Amino acid sequence: MLDLSTRTPATIARVEQPRYNPVAQALHWITAAFVLAVLPLAWIATSLPASPAKGFYFQLHKSVGITIFAIVAIRILWRARHPAPPEVYVPRGLALLGRVNHWLLYLVFLLMPISGFVMSAAAGNTTQYFFLFPIPPFMEKNKAVQDLADQIHLAGQYAVYALVTLHVLATAWHLVARRDALLDRMLPRQDV
Ligand code: HEM
Ligand code: HEM
Repeated sequence: MLDLSTRTPATIARVEQPRYNPVAQALHWITAAFVLAVLPLAWIATSLPASPAKGFYFQLHKSVGITIFAIVAIRILWRARHPAPPEVYVPRGLALLGRVNHWLLYLVFLLMPISGFVMSAAAGNTTQYFFLFPIPPFMEKNKAVQDLADQIHLAGQYAVYALVTLHVLATAWHLVARRDALLDRMLPRQDV
């Protein structure tokens, strides 16, 4: 049974506060899980010598990366129709930093799959989407385009590391230092 004695104004505020809608929440955590997979797959694939195992990890890396593209595109369309809840209060400069971080995250998680896909296609490679559906290259082989996409992809990884680190540290700061309910906004409502 619900213990009403634990319902202080602070816990009630936590339960009642505005949240991202369940679809936005689900898409957010699915993206996070796929991002946690796509990076180690790339690190393993690039570190291996030429072998069937290297090819296996690369195909998985590409498949997960293409899936991230689709989910992020859907997220942006969803977000355009469903505004975020009113922001948690932080000083104006930090609020702006947070907003810029979010939009750059969307941007970089579109740019990474696009540059990866173009690099692969311009090298004449077919991507085996989760070993089930072949996605043939959509263009003629082109070394210059391949190299440019490769450079964007290699440099882009540092934007990924920086933006994701800042994003996770900011969440931890809200949780530990501000002790506000920011993380709860991205989690399903729980009674206390
Ligand atoms: C969210 C999406 C993606 C992220 C975050 C990502 C990240 C990375 C990272 C960190 C590396 C290792 C770079 C290094 O050697 O230091 C890499 C390599 C690579 N990725 Fe991705 N990737 C993504 C999507 C894709 C997609 C969709 C494809 C192709 C369809 C792809 C193809 C490749 C290839 C071919 C390499 C090897 C590049 C080289 O060795 O020069 N990636 N990726
Ligand atoms: C485990 C890691 C992660 C944690 C703890 C986390 C946490 C959060 C939290 C608490 C929010 C809500 C912020 C608010 O209420 O204003 C949020 C929003 C957001 N997160 Fe994450 N996140 C993580 C990973 C990621 C990743 C990998 C991405 C990459 C795309 C991402 C992209 C976003 C975006 C774009 C928003 C803003 C949503 C919007 O307003 O459109 N997050 N995140």
